[in-house]
Amino acid sequence: MMAPASVLLVALVLSGVRGYFETWGLSGTRPTQPTCVDIPRNMSLCHGIGYNKMRLPNLLDHDTMAEVSHQASSWVALNNIRCHPDTQLFLCSLFSPVCLDRPIYPCRSLCEKVKQGCEGRMTMYGYPWPEMFNCSKFPEDNDMCITPQSNYDPNSEERCLACNPVETYENILDNFCRADFALKTKIRRARKMMLKCKKPKVLKSSSELSKQLPHPVLFLEQSDTCCEEKMRNSREVYLIMGHSHGDAKLVPTFVMPWGKNSKPFRKAVRMFKKLNCSDPKLVSHSVIGDALGGSSGNTAGSTNGRGNANATGRRKRGRTKGRRKKTLKPMSASPP
Ligand SMILES: *[C@@H]1O[C@H](CO)[C@@H](O)[C@H](O)[C@H]1NC(C)=O
Ligand SMILES: *[C@@H]1O[C@H](CO)[C@@H](O)[C@H](O)[C@H]1NC(C)=O
Ligand SMILES: *[C@@H]1O[C@H](CO)[C@@H](O)[C@H](O)[C@H]1NC(C)=O
Ligand SMILES: *[C@@H]1O[C@H](CO)[C@@H](O)[C@H](O)[C@H]1NC(C)=O
Repeated sequence: MMAPASVLLVALVLSGVRGYFETWGLSGTRPTQPTCVDIPRNMSLCHGIGYNKMRLPNLLDHDTMAEVSHQASSWVALNNIRCHPDTQLFLCSLFSPVCLDRPIYPCRSLCEKVKQGCEGRMTMYGYPWPEMFNCSKFPEDNDMCITPQSNYDPNSEERCLACNPVETYENILDNFCRADFALKTKIRRARKMMLKCKKPKVLKSSSELSKQLPHPVLFLEQSDTCCEEKMRNSREVYLIMGHSHGDAKLVPTFVMPWGKNSKPFRKAVRMFKKLNCSDPKLVSHSVIGDALGGSSGNTAGSTNGRGNANATGRRKRGRTKGRRKKTLKPMSASPP
């Protein structure tokens, strides 16, 4: 994520924004004069994004650092789900905008791409795309807004996404909930875009999978050719999740070596048994709430299965504080 933002900043400076730096602070008598402050280390969503200073108030009208970092922490989980590669760029363009005299908004196209990638996932977990990210508020693409940086095309071939999944707790659980089947398995044979499983242990099942036990055969998508290479002659144990298509084909969409040494992996796998994926509130609390808890005092309830706290009630309470600021939390069921 570092590179795009740096590139962006350089591009902005080169394209004539330089002048704003020079006039910075000259009109400091205005009461609402924004200031430039360091992006604090505890703002993990945006710290290290490629520039160090941010504009305060930010573009969501948060005017203290405490408020900014607190609000931003609610969106770390969405970023970790990796629903779109530009999620961090988009969120940070609003939470920790580049420090220039003039506010630089995300372009509408950036908003729309991230929305396209993430809205479905948010809805699935019981959170509508918030009005504060209503894309029609953001400027049409021009030189003075932040454009999408990734050439992300979910349909492009040879990306091998299935075998290069992002190893975050949220992403693993998110894939688990969306999968029709999940297996812990070795690979007996990998050829002709087919993976034959050996000693599978079923973690989540579909009727197609049950029919094929104990020797399920998985069919790789054309775009996942690299999986075959990786898994040929591999003696490793894998976590494989995927979809069963109408024609009884099992198609893997998430393949990861069974990573005993990875903390997010272990934590996610422990959660598999407790997670009721058809209960969006419980899922959002486990997937999202728990992840948030990790950064600021964990709520033990969510990890031991008692996490089905009344998310709706909490969100409502949060909103009735009467603040007109944009404080809607995306995926945090529990205010810290
Ligand atoms: C982050 O640090 C700032 C001070 O730099 C503090 O005001 C704020 O409360 C901290 N935020 C969190 C979420 O810990
Ligand atoms: C977004 O904002 C526009 C104009 O402000 C409004 O017409 C539209 O209904 C809003 N969209 C959503 C989904 O709220
Ligand atoms: C999972 O949640 C759904 C919807 O809340 C419920 O109908 C179902 O009984 C739950 N399943 C288990 C195993 O708890
Ligand atoms: C959640 O809490 C609200 C009020 O706090 C209550 O009206 C509602 O019935 C509760 N819902 C569940 C599912 O417990």
